[in-house]
Amino acid sequence: MEFSSLYFFSILIALCIHFQTRMACNSNDRIALNDLYSCLKSKPDSWNSSSADCCTWDGVTCNNSSVSSKRVIGLELGNKRLTGTICESLAVLDQLRILNLSHNLLHGTLTTKLFSLQNLEILDLSNNYFVGSIPLHDDMRSIRFIDLSKNYLNGTVNATLCETSPHIQVLNLASNKFTGEVSTTFGRCTSLQNLSLNVNSLSGSFPGGLLQLKDLRALHLEGNQFSGPLDARLGNLSNLVELDISSNRFSGNLPDIFGNLGKLEKFSAFTNKFNGHMPESLVNSPSLKILDLHNNTLDGPININCSAMIHLISLNLGSNNFHGPIPETFSSCHSLSILNLGKNKLGGEVPYNFKNLQALTFLSLSNTSISNISRALEILQHCKNLTTLILGINFQDEEMPGDVNLQFRNVKALVIPFCQLRGSIPLWLTNCKSLQLLDLSWNLLGGSIPLWLGNFKSLFYLDLSNNSFTGNIPKSLAELQTLVTNTVIPPEEIAPGIPLFKYREQGTGLQYTKIWSLPPTMDLSFNKLTGPILPSFGRLKGLHVLGLNNNGLSGPIPADLSGMSNLEALDLSHNKLSGEIPTSLVKLNFLSKFNVAYNQLSGEIPAGGQFMTFPYSSFQGNKNLCGGDYVSCRPVQAPVQSPSKEEMKIVGLPFEIGIATGFVLSVAISFMSGWVFSVAERTTSTSRFLCWR
Ligand SMILES: *[C@@H]1O[C@H](CO)[C@@H](O)[C@H](O)[C@H]1NC(C)=O
Ligand SMILES: *[C@@H]1O[C@H](CO)[C@@H](O)[C@H](O)[C@H]1NC(C)=O
Ligand SMILES: *[C@@H]1O[C@H](CO)[C@@H](O)[C@H](O)[C@H]1NC(C)=O
Ligand SMILES: *[C@@H]1O[C@H](CO)[C@@H](O)[C@H](O)[C@H]1NC(C)=O
Ligand SMILES: *[C@@H]1O[C@H](CO)[C@@H](O)[C@H](O)[C@H]1NC(C)=O
Ligand SMILES: *[C@@H]1O[C@H](CO)[C@@H](O)[C@H](O)[C@H]1NC(C)=O
Ligand SMILES: *[C@@H]1O[C@H](CO)[C@@H](O)[C@H](O)[C@H]1NC(C)=O
Ligand SMILES: *[C@@H]1O[C@H](CO)[C@@H](O)[C@H](O)[C@H]1NC(C)=O
Ligand SMILES: *[C@@H]1O[C@H](CO)[C@@H](O)[C@H](O)[C@H]1NC(C)=O
Ligand SMILES: *[C@@H]1O[C@H](CO)[C@@H](O)[C@H](O)[C@H]1NC(C)=O
Ligand SMILES: *[C@@H]1O[C@H](CO)[C@@H](O)[C@H](O)[C@H]1NC(C)=O
Ligand SMILES: *[C@@H]1O[C@H](CO)[C@@H](O)[C@H](O)[C@H]1NC(C)=O
Repeated sequence: MEFSSLYFFSILIALCIHFQTRMACNSNDRIALNDLYSCLKSKPDSWNSSSADCCTWDGVTCNNSSVSSKRVIGLELGNKRLTGTICESLAVLDQLRILNLSHNLLHGTLTTKLFSLQNLEILDLSNNYFVGSIPLHDDMRSIRFIDLSKNYLNGTVNATLCETSPHIQVLNLASNKFTGEVSTTFGRCTSLQNLSLNVNSLSGSFPGGLLQLKDLRALHLEGNQFSGPLDARLGNLSNLVELDISSNRFSGNLPDIFGNLGKLEKFSAFTNKFNGHMPESLVNSPSLKILDLHNNTLDGPININCSAMIHLISLNLGSNNFHGPIPETFSSCHSLSILNLGKNKLGGEVPYNFKNLQALTFLSLSNTSISNISRALEILQHCKNLTTLILGINFQDEEMPGDVNLQFRNVKALVIPFCQLRGSIPLWLTNCKSLQLLDLSWNLLGGSIPLWLGNFKSLFYLDLSNNSFTGNIPKSLAELQTLVTNTVIPPEEIAPGIPLFKYREQGTGLQYTKIWSLPPTMDLSFNKLTGPILPSFGRLKGLHVLGLNNNGLSGPIPADLSGMSNLEALDLSHNKLSGEIPTSLVKLNFLSKFNVAYNQLSGEIPAGGQFMTFPYSSFQGNKNLCGGDYVSCRPVQAPVQSPSKEEMKIVGLPFEIGIATGFVLSVAISFMSGWVFSVAERTTSTSRFLCWR
């Protein structure tokens, strides 16, 4: 008897516990969540108003330990394609500790109620379409982390937040529309460790209030309009690990404060107006891993002390007024992987000790007035990890070295344009088994294009334009493996975030965000090539850009070219091509640029497909061509402007290098060097150049 009542009782308790854990989602919380998701328009998949326990809903976390009912403490609905707004009912969720609605399509203003959640520790509303200013009166006593980046918030930035929320450690307001000066009230955010105000329209001098933030580890001010000199009191922020003030209008000398910044690993100050020498403490910093000062007007020698800077991985001093020579001592920067000295007045030769830079993967010495390409290559071949070598605009009037033993086994990108190099395509290139990108444009190279160029297994970008190559286009180029199989697999980005410019025609440039995202290209334009265009080129399914213009090519345009199914640009202008334009070319669905002007073509311009979109100028200068949208099959009139006047001024060839390097939890930096070229006018309509920015 007693046993069975005990048994009954314990079942009752078990049921109660079961009931409680199943049913006890706080009903106010549930109502608030229901309200909230009617504001958010699109419900998250698993949200189901008929399911009583809101703690089981997707993205909802509850505290199960409270006795009466389970309270919602976390709402994490990032990246759920939510539209709509945040409504006031959120304030009911007063136990909320984490609110993450980032990466959605939410709009509207930020409600004041949201900023009075006293238990909230983490607030992430980044990557939405919120507008308006940050609510003035907040009461988030527990808040530690606020990310409002990538919205359309405006107004001034001040630290009213900190007055009631003294424990805030991370504040990210990047990529919004904030304007004006940064208020001195920031001095009160004494717990701040990471502050990101980058990519807004903030102005004024270096915000003095920030100098009181002794715990600051990361400070991002890049991409604003701050001006004036850098405050020397910055040296007080001795916990800084990361300091980015790039793309502003700071000027004057860099203060000699880096001795105090003993933890600084990354300093980025590119695209400002700094001048003078690099301070002593900077070039001796033992902690720095990444230093990017490109695009300033710094001068003096490049006096990096590699015996001190033992952690240096990435150094970008491009586009400054540093003068030479390139220091011998670089060789003791054992960790140096990325080095850009481009566009400085260095002169001299590549120092012998560069041999020792065994970690080097990316090197640009473009436009540094260096000479002796034979010696440069001889030395650099010892940098076994080198994958990208950019040496353009140097070595004026030298001979392309012919030493067949030169080895660049790991080089994937070799870029040596604008050097007026004489000679021919060197045999040692056959040792560059990894080659994917070769740019030897704008030199004085001659002879024929060797057959073996077709043997590179990974080559997808070949620019030999603006040289003096003669003979036929070798048929092996129609056999380039990656282009035939359309399996261009861009290698892993060694320096992610290098935006690359490919200049075409007057002023129009295409920007690619990565060096390896260039379109598969074969550019043989502006040479003296003769003979036919082989039908087998139609096999290059992977090719996107083919430039054969301004040569002496003859014969018909092969109908088989329609096999290049990914072709976007085809320029055959200024040759001696004859016959008709094959109608099969209308099958090229991606073709957006097509030019056959100034040949000896005849017959009817194909109708249909992309051909409806090409302008008259694509066809002019062919006496017997007719049709198209322009002239109903009668001879195309001679153009109003005489072709000899069609002189194009290549105003600028921006050739700039940007690199970003992952470091410490993939904090990326932008590492860039820029320069602009002025080149003699050429009669061209479609010159293309590789330009790093
Ligand atoms: C929502 O709940 C109802 C009733 O409990 C159920 O029939 C339905 O399958 C649920 N929907 C989802 C998406 O869970
Ligand atoms: C709280 O209870 C819900 C079910 O009501 C469960 O999904 C969740 O995992 C529990 N949380 C913890 C921290 O135990
Ligand atoms: C859960 O609630 C209990 C009692 O209210 C509280 O002591 C505890 O800190 C809460 N835990 C979390 C993770 O919120
Ligand atoms: C918020 O959610 C997004 C997407 O799920 C995630 O990437 C991000 O790290 C989360 N934020 C925080 C602060 O945890
Ligand atoms: C902020 O943007 C709103 C529109 O989104 C506009 O009405 C308001 O004037 C702006 N405020 C400031 C200070 O620019
Ligand atoms: C803070 O910013 C708000 C809105 O931008 C402004 O109204 C307020 O006066 C500012 N407070 C201080 C102390 O600058
Ligand atoms: C804060 O900055 C430090 C130093 O750069 C970095 O390691 C950390 O990941 C940052 N934390 C956050 C939350 O951004
Ligand atoms: C801040 O730096 C300045 C100049 O370097 C120095 O005079 C001052 O004492 C420092 N202040 C503090 C609080 O460290
Ligand atoms: C370079 O750094 C080393 C090691 O810190 C130091 O001994 C040497 O004096 C420095 N050289 C110069 C020229 O500053
Ligand atoms: C060269 O590259 C290899 C493979 O990426 C790497 O393991 C090695 O550490 C690098 N050498 C140096 C000196 O950094
Ligand atoms: C270099 O700086 C100037 C202004 O100082 C700017 O206009 C230009 O865009 C910058 N170039 C690069 C590549 O950042
Ligand atoms: C090369 O750099 C110099 C400055 O060192 C600059 O004046 C010149 O325009 C650059 N040349 C080209 C072709 O970019």
